[in-house]
Amino acid sequence: KRPAGAPGRELARPITKIGVVGAGLMASQLALLFARQLGVPVVLTDIDQERVDKGVGYVHNEVDKLVAKGRLATDVATKAKALVTGSVSKEPFADADFVIEAVFEELSVKKQVFAELEAVVSPECILATNTSSLSVTAMAADLQHPGRLVGFHFFNPVAVMPLLEIVRAPKTEDAVLASAFELARGLKKTAVLVKDAPAFVVNRILLRLMGEVTAAFDEGTPARVADAALRPMGLPMTPFTLLAMVGLPVAQHVQESLNEAFGDRFPLSQNLQKLVDNNVRSLWSAAADGTQE
Ligand code: CAA
Repeated sequence: KRPAGAPGRELARPITKIGVVGAGLMASQLALLFARQLGVPVVLTDIDQERVDKGVGYVHNEVDKLVAKGRLATDVATKAKALVTGSVSKEPFADADFVIEAVFEELSVKKQVFAELEAVVSPECILATNTSSLSVTAMAADLQHPGRLVGFHFFNPVAVMPLLEIVRAPKTEDAVLASAFELARGLKKTAVLVKDAPAFVVNRILLRLMGEVTAAFDEGTPARVADAALRPMGLPMTPFTLLAMVGLPVAQHVQESLNEAFGDRFPLSQNLQKLVDNNVRSLWSAAADGTQE
């Protein structure tokens, strides 16, 4: 059955090679998913060799873990590892059909990435952003071919979360959208079409909950207490655990986008800002440091 709002599958273009810009945790998880589910070559790129090596290393390590758990046959694992390569240069993207970015959540950084990509990729190459909350329309504004850009937003952990938000910007072409839905099908994800609105749908709802949790934290409720209080609610993961997994800077960027768009409905958390400024990666370590307890 065709997902609501998806154009006909006959418009979809074949995807035989994929590029991933950024080699951080999200990007590396994406590279692993593409190689494993689609069996196509995937090239990961970042600003230096160290980051690229770390991203490729993450993929190889995750594949080894799946083999050790008996979830992946050795021959499939060897193939998956060989499919993921790294490059500091974007030249290998010249024959890619689909390139997705998962770099720092800053509009200017993303725009710069897309400008560099357009100088290398073919005119038919689809460009995608994994942004959590930024405007896809704004990202497309300076592109030579704005119709090739689509939002392709995954959730953490990528390997297990079934949902994918596909974001259509006003100029996104039908063939691009159809290809995005076909790609999602190949990845065995449930794709939903969402409007290009601040934080789309899932993060906008999730941040209402997170906003109250971080407000309680701001008002002096220790992280452990707020989290423990929510444990019996049947959530698969308690809010602070989720925040720590998503990453505080990402959560803060989503909060900022929503605050900018909706004001007091999405207040900024002073503690979240402090933790990000102090480069504290997890709320748990903040609690252990005695920040709130
Ligand atoms: N990477 C890969 N696989 C993972 C994983 C990870 N980080 N974490 C868990 N898994 C796998 C496990 O290996 C296990 O697989 P098998 O059954 O094949 O062994 C499976 O997931 C279940 O794991 P567990 O039994 O250990 O733990 P669980 O029952 O608590 O489930 C979870 C783990 C699926 C992550 C669950 O806790 C959950 O759904 N949490 C909520 C996650 C969520 O809300 N994510 C959205 C965050 S918002 C976001 O990402 C958007 C954004 O833009 C910021």
